[in-house]
Amino acid sequence: MKYNFDEIIDRKNTNALKTDALGPRYGNSDLIPLWVADMDFLSPPAITEAIIERAKHGIFGYTCPSQEYYNSIINWVDRFHDWKIKQEWISFIPGIVKGIAFVIDCFTTKDQKVVIQPPVYHPFRIVPTLHHRDIVYNPLILEAGQYRMDLEGLKKAIDPQCRVLILCNPHNPGGRVWSRQELIDIAEICYDNNILVISDEIHSDLAYAPNKHIPFASVSEKAAQNSITFMAPSKTFNIAGIVSSFSVIPNDELREKFHAYLASSELEEGHIFAYLAAQAAYEHGEEWLKEVKSYLWDNINFVDQYLKANIPQIKAMIPQASFLVWLDCKDLNLSQQDLVSLFVDDAKLALNDGVMFGSQGEGYMRMNIGTPRANIEKALQNLKRAVDSKQI
Ligand SMILES: Cc1ncc(COP(=O)(O)O)c(C=O)c1O
Repeated sequence: MKYNFDEIIDRKNTNALKTDALGPRYGNSDLIPLWVADMDFLSPPAITEAIIERAKHGIFGYTCPSQEYYNSIINWVDRFHDWKIKQEWISFIPGIVKGIAFVIDCFTTKDQKVVIQPPVYHPFRIVPTLHHRDIVYNPLILEAGQYRMDLEGLKKAIDPQCRVLILCNPHNPGGRVWSRQELIDIAEICYDNNILVISDEIHSDLAYAPNKHIPFASVSEKAAQNSITFMAPSKTFNIAGIVSSFSVIPNDELREKFHAYLASSELEEGHIFAYLAAQAAYEHGEEWLKEVKSYLWDNINFVDQYLKANIPQIKAMIPQASFLVWLDCKDLNLSQQDLVSLFVDDAKLALNDGVMFGSQGEGYMRMNIGTPRANIEKALQNLKRAVDSKQI
């Protein structure tokens, strides 16, 4: 390994949400933070170096995206995801959650509905709700320890007021890398029912072999013509704070409408370090990514083995992508409140409460394993002590 992911770096007092918001969020600032989805590793040195180099110039005026910035995205998406995109399809957006809000605002009216497939990343529910759109739920089906989409359920759940479906591709919190067939089927149903698909592909670069991420828009003409894809280097290279997401829209009409919406508030104007960091990541981050994925995969297996050997009442859903592990704690037979209290008050751990992701998350907690192994080991030991002391 060229990069040392075992290094423990103190993030406290850097305004890191993960460490410095523990007090307000969990009522205790002295917890091991395994919640919000960023990692405790240094980003690829090429990103830091590019930022430092540019900062040395000392003038931080209005900035435009360079040709190299676009090329780096186009090459990355082609090489890693076998999807050929054109420069004009791409636009900077100031975050994917914000992008979802923009699509809802731009393409739906208040009497229209948004479809989501819970348990799923909570802003998929919160953002449309705060925009006064009703949500239609098509829960995922749990089968042999993995989630799959309920395509028949989707056909039954939708009605003519449904206008947008938000797809988490790959899935958070279950970690599924959807199959080509699942994506083709979703594309077919949505196209035929005039439901625009937002494909949130923020976790796409972190798929573990043999799973391979498939961009939604690449699976069929119906998918390409009826979707808005969001991607970002933020999860991949641990640069969420830099905010460097982008949208990709092959369909002319959808793209013109969305780009005009963005332009009306200058939302498509990125900032100096966003362009720079994204380009450095895509041009020079490949080796780092390979190593971080290998480290993350070992962390996932470590959690799985530890639980099997020491806390068999808790089962890890092995993610096919990314660094979030969905823990099935139902065999502890605790109410959700007592489950959260076991983690926070007894084990001194800050994980995400499964119910955040929908009622289907009852009995679950989401663990972020994007941290040095020593932290994971300590967290699991705390958890074992807490479970043992309760004799559950
Ligand atoms: C599925 C998914 N989408 C979007 C985001 C956040 O993206 P952004 O910071 O660009 O809004 C996250 C972060 O955890 C996520 O898991």
